[in-house]
Amino acid sequence: MKILRHTPEFKPSEVVVAEEVIDGCLKDPVNSGYYTLVAEDGSGILGYISYGPTPLTEGTWDLYWEAVAQEIRGQGIGSALMQAAEEEIRKAEGRLALIETSSTPAYEKTRRFHLGLGYEIIARIPDFYSPEDDKIILQKRLR
Ligand SMILES: CC(C)(COP(=O)(O)OP(=O)(O)OC[C@H]1O[C@@H](n2cnc3c(N)ncnc32)[C@H](O)[C@@H]1OP(=O)(O)O)[C@@H](O)C(=O)NCCC(=O)NCCS
Repeated sequence: MKILRHTPEFKPSEVVVAEEVIDGCLKDPVNSGYYTLVAEDGSGILGYISYGPTPLTEGTWDLYWEAVAQEIRGQGIGSALMQAAEEEIRKAEGRLALIETSSTPAYEKTRRFHLGLGYEIIARIPDFYSPEDDKIILQKRLR
């Protein structure tokens, strides 16, 4: 939660939802439909990723949230988390990973991060989050 609260890209209302997703996973790891992986070293948690199967689909998974502590970004931790999540999804016979993100300049680096990991932009919903803040949907085929 400390990492989430210190991630400037996230609005306070988004942090609340991100926390609900983590709580869901902790309360019922088997049936909640939410999975969480953390990256850690001897000093504590460095970042995390939440993901889960998309309800009513066969083999489609959503990557819901990811954050790496701001002062240690750009060192490969986010990529390692994404790859670990993709590996778990493949093991669960997942075939398609989806990410929804914002079009604002604050997410420019995040978009580059996802594109660099092989995700492609497949849809854009104009003014979705707010006027001039589009929803961008990225996808990667995992098998
Ligand atoms: C996106 C995020 C998880 C990436 O984690 P990370 O540990 O910085 O990523 P990596 O070090 O594995 O990858 C760095 C790559 O991502 C990009 N990147 C994204 N944000 C970056 C940042 N703040 N600093 C440096 N590189 C960043 C760079 O293009 C870099 O590519 P390169 O290695 O070819 O130069 C992290 O920057 C973050 O927490 N961002 C804010 C929250 C967010 O946008 N979450 C995702 C949407 S829910």
